[in-house]
Amino acid sequence: MELTNILSADVIYDLARGPFVWMSLVLCIVGTMVRTLQLISLTKVEKRNIRIQRPAAIKQKSNQNFSAKNLSRFFSDLKLTIIGTSPVTIVVSCMFHLCLIITPIFLLAHNILIEEAVGFSLFSFSEHFADRLTFIFLICAAYFLIRRVFLPRLRAISSVYDYIILAVTTAPFLTGYLVYDQVFDYKIMIILHMLAGELMLIAIPFTKIYHMFFFFIGRFVLIHQHTLGKGSRTW
Ligand code: HEM
Ligand code: HEM
Repeated sequence: MELTNILSADVIYDLARGPFVWMSLVLCIVGTMVRTLQLISLTKVEKRNIRIQRPAAIKQKSNQNFSAKNLSRFFSDLKLTIIGTSPVTIVVSCMFHLCLIITPIFLLAHNILIEEAVGFSLFSFSEHFADRLTFIFLICAAYFLIRRVFLPRLRAISSVYDYIILAVTTAPFLTGYLVYDQVFDYKIMIILHMLAGELMLIAIPFTKIYHMFFFFIGRFVLIHQHTLGKGSRTW
């Protein structure tokens, strides 16, 4: 077969729509399981009864005593946390993560592909609604980019890696948006979209995108002052 044939758009399309999807899903799931086991194996069950010194705002919350004085103290403590210092960022971050997780799962086009592959699929949003969610996601990603570039304290601690991760996360949404709205050549855009989505899935266990799992390990498994619940293990 000639090289031009091998690299023709149809061949790449078929690969990206079939074997690459399975390959990226397997790498994502197996990679995540291996990394999680690796991390858990670096911790041990804590048998001692450790008393955790919690920040005042959290301590106040668990007090169950909702007197006006306690509540006003709770809210003034809350002002010192990121919710008080960067409320816009918190709202944007919640929208960003919500759209990031629900849009691809409940997307009609994805569910059609899943139905074709395994014979059943999930409930789907209307295409218009999914397109709006994608747009909201893109605005949130732009906010994160602008914040990183223009906020001196954030720029100082940002490296190329941080920009790459933001780009890898945003690429499936940007290309998906352009495909749906039929901007540029449909075939090229859908190929770019599928490759971008597969790259993101592969990146989940091997880059800092793994934070989505580390969040739960850090907050619910390990014992430290920000643990939600009791926690059971220490490093
Ligand atoms: C694993 C490989 C993937 C395949 C094969 C795939 C396939 C598709 C297809 C066929 C469409 C419909 C395009 C159209 O309207 O004609 C689409 C749209 C879309 N995909 Fe994917 N996708 C993949 C991964 C992802 C991932 C990982 C994400 C995000 C995390 C994503 C987000 C989107 C979004 C947001 C849209 C729609 C955008 C809009 O309606 O405005 N996709 N995808
Ligand atoms: C339950 C799952 C997740 C949790 C709890 C979580 C939590 C967080 C937190 C706490 C931050 C830092 C605060 C912020 O800047 O917003 C963050 C940032 C970020 N997350 Fe997640 N995340 C999750 C899933 C994901 C996934 C699946 C991806 C990508 C596929 C992702 C991509 C990002 C990116 C790119 C940033 C940095 C934005 C920037 O450049 O400032 N997150 N996440």
